[in-house]
Amino acid sequence: MERKRWYKDMVFYQIWPRSFKDGNGDGMGDLWGVLEKLDYIRSLGCDGIWFSPLYPSPGADCGYDIADYMDIAPEFGGMEAFRAVLEGLHARGMKLIMDLVVNHTSDEHEWFQKSRQRIDPYTDYYIWRPAGPGGALPNNWQSHFEGSAWEFDDVRGEYYMHLFAIKQPDLNMDNPLVREEVKKILRFWLDLGVDGFREDVITFISKKEGLPQDHLFPIYKGMRFYNHGPHIHEYLTEFKRDVLDHYDCFTLAEAPLVSPKRSLEYIDERTGQIDMMIQFQCQCADCFFTDWMPLKFSLRRMKHAFSMWQYKLQGRAWNMLYLENHDHPRIISRYGSEDYRTESGKALAASYLFQQGTPFIYQGQEIGMTNWRPDSPALYEDVQTVYQNTHRGTRKSAAKRLHALWRSSRDSARTPVQWDDGPQAGFTTGTPWFSINPNYREINVNREEADPDSLLHFYRRAIQLRKSLRVVRDGRYKEHFHLNPRLYVYSRTLPAEKLLVICSFSKHKQKIRFPKGFDPANGKLILQSYKESAEDYLRPYEARVYYWEK
Ligand code: NOJ
Repeated sequence: MERKRWYKDMVFYQIWPRSFKDGNGDGMGDLWGVLEKLDYIRSLGCDGIWFSPLYPSPGADCGYDIADYMDIAPEFGGMEAFRAVLEGLHARGMKLIMDLVVNHTSDEHEWFQKSRQRIDPYTDYYIWRPAGPGGALPNNWQSHFEGSAWEFDDVRGEYYMHLFAIKQPDLNMDNPLVREEVKKILRFWLDLGVDGFREDVITFISKKEGLPQDHLFPIYKGMRFYNHGPHIHEYLTEFKRDVLDHYDCFTLAEAPLVSPKRSLEYIDERTGQIDMMIQFQCQCADCFFTDWMPLKFSLRRMKHAFSMWQYKLQGRAWNMLYLENHDHPRIISRYGSEDYRTESGKALAASYLFQQGTPFIYQGQEIGMTNWRPDSPALYEDVQTVYQNTHRGTRKSAAKRLHALWRSSRDSARTPVQWDDGPQAGFTTGTPWFSINPNYREINVNREEADPDSLLHFYRRAIQLRKSLRVVRDGRYKEHFHLNPRLYVYSRTLPAEKLLVICSFSKHKQKIRFPKGFDPANGKLILQSYKESAEDYLRPYEARVYYWEK
């Protein structure tokens, strides 16, 4: 089938279902709630939705532990509500992509239950190893969430591998039967009408033969043996050839620790097996590899990450662009300033919305939601956060530990969306499943709708502009003044038009600078973040977009 690559003209909205909008009053976000908000999402200029997992799940990792791949959880409204949302989206000309989580399942999945009892054909669906002498672990790999990557199962009398939580056993993708199951899942949803998949940690699915000890790295032990593993391209090619190529769909692969160079092995438009990747470098301007190793925010690191991906992919591949998702704290609390919430939110929006790629917006990002700041660690629920809190930095003072959680936990971005300043922030009429950020009285959709100068309206204007200008889709990217620690300046150029984005990341006035060849006197200021007319200096976190036509 000829690839239309329609995703290049789109902007996506990510829904993390539990916290988006409750439609039936049980306190948990659901698809009825989504249905109520489709017009809102459309009004942002978004053309599609990525749903974090909606499948039946015990919820050990908020749905990333799947117990049944071919159904929708009853708490989200089941298949009936899903069909209604899918139809509602398609009727609006919008697309829907599902989260495909096949590195692991829930330990409550029927396959695992049968595998632990050695019932065929499930016996080798997972990665089982006998204990070594004295009960020793099969190797020294670490999971990302809960200590060792191995857990002993009394039923089978062997260890199973889990690269994430204990309740998330890894599938054995080397088993052709497992790959057939993946293809069945893909076909099931594509036949139902979905438009593509975001593939959870898909670069982890092929583990190195022999599962060797890792004697090198102090962190992420084992990762060099399972990230981009020996058969990864073979398996992805198989999924593409046998299923994906037969549908008009796209794939977006989550890829921890991938460089632009390596990404081309996956997403080069001529040879790749998938369409776009979620890279993590753009999330590391204020940390060392993970949010749990925080550093001071460096604009230069952020610019470098963005630019490196733009330069290396230009003309060869197309990628997704993002600032937030459900796995990281809120971006204003990290790269911006809560004191200049609207201003820094706008600068961040302009920093990525005019790059080449398909932008994704995470629920609540468009209204500038900030990190939740509870007064007790006991309120955190995320499996990774609970582990970190009980196993790391336990000698720190209570205040320091709370600060660390606020700064690093994924729960900081998982509180319910703040729709209005009424009870429960308009999220539910019942008791919310999770805490609501008390700042909902100031930060909510209703209030932003009523203020023409709000961040929400800025997102709308920027997206509209992005879609109206070919130079944003196809222009050549160039970063200017890259050593400047306070300004992010980049241009996009086509033979007949060019665009310049200038964003200040400072709380103080900054001298405005234009690169050679970009004279504001003969260009047009087409977007600005302050409503008062532009000065010859930049105000705190000011963002401007200029445009020239030949
Ligand atoms: C990445 C997902 O985005 C995250 O939320 C999840 O916990 C892990 N993969 C494990 O599935």
